Amino acid sequence: MTQQVLYCNNVDATLNNIIEGGNYNAVMVLVDTNTHKLVLPKLPCLRRAHIIEITPGDDNKNLDSLVHVWQLMHNAGATRKSLLVNVGGGSVTDLGGLAAATFKRGIAFINIPTTLLAAVDAAVGGKTGINFNGLKNEIGVFALATSVIVSTCFFHTLPPKELKSGYAEMIKHAMLRSQKHFFELLDFDLGKIDKNKLLELIRSSVKTKEDIVNQDPTEQGLRKALNLGHTVGHALESLAMEHGKPVPHGYAIAWGLVTEAVISHMTLGFPSDDLYILARFVHDNYGAPAVTCDHYDRLISFMQHDKKSSNGEINCTLLKKCGDFTIDNTIPPDTMKTALDILRDLMGV
Ligand code: GLY
Repeated sequence: MTQQVLYCNNVDATLNNIIEGGNYNAVMVLVDTNTHKLVLPKLPCLRRAHIIEITPGDDNKNLDSLVHVWQLMHNAGATRKSLLVNVGGGSVTDLGGLAAATFKRGIAFINIPTTLLAAVDAAVGGKTGINFNGLKNEIGVFALATSVIVSTCFFHTLPPKELKSGYAEMIKHAMLRSQKHFFELLDFDLGKIDKNKLLELIRSSVKTKEDIVNQDPTEQGLRKALNLGHTVGHALESLAMEHGKPVPHGYAIAWGLVTEAVISHMTLGFPSDDLYILARFVHDNYGAPAVTCDHYDRLISFMQHDKKSSNGEINCTLLKKCGDFTIDNTIPPDTMKTALDILRDLMGV
């Protein structure tokens, strides 16, 4: 089963069409306090919907919030013929997707991502979940939204850091797709956003993700390609969190992409030209990670305990070149340390 992804500039009209065609007996909308204030007023077709509000932030993507959403869906008299519309970033679409997929064994839901990161990643592809016992996305199911409505019209209120964070996932998709897409993404001026061009780039980015997810919806193999940059990226993110200086997810992924491109170069001959172009773009747009060689053992320990590692070894997706990837590569800790040295050189640390 595939998911309908709609690209548009008029979200209200698009959503209204879907709701009118769906014959739902109740419509509920999940928002956080930010999207309640900033986005819901732009969606008058939801004026009669039951509003369910949660506190923003990944910390609140937890069991208490899930129970709150279930409770309000119950209070609204939701049945299997009801619809939940998730309006927000990845925390809202992850939590709302799980709430909908489990309420009465599953009701329809629509995702309207309001951040670039959610538009190109969390809201598409059917992963839902909450954090549990300090572990990210520990509880969840695979469940596809009926539709995902993607529009750049919400992004002008996003801080530049948020936009860059989402853009890193787009670079990842481009590296998995082809050198042509990779160059196209790195040519785009993040300091002066052309919204129409961005929507076009988002469309091809989501298509790359969809092509992979459709072949392997439950991540038995191929979908692991989407973890490119994430083994190192998650470790850098966890280290920054541990030091009380959190970094946006996409920044850590951008540094992770460079490090994993270095390992790809060392072990599979990934072209050095492409590596340098990537490193320059990441350096100029994301700066450098706060890492010294004293942090390597801690970073490696994070990587060995990552969800993607099943046996305590470091597991990465690597590239022979853009568009030609291999999954499930085991990386010896010494190779990783060398790659982290090179990352720091490339980022000027
Ligand atoms: N975020 C990677 C995936 O959806 O598989």
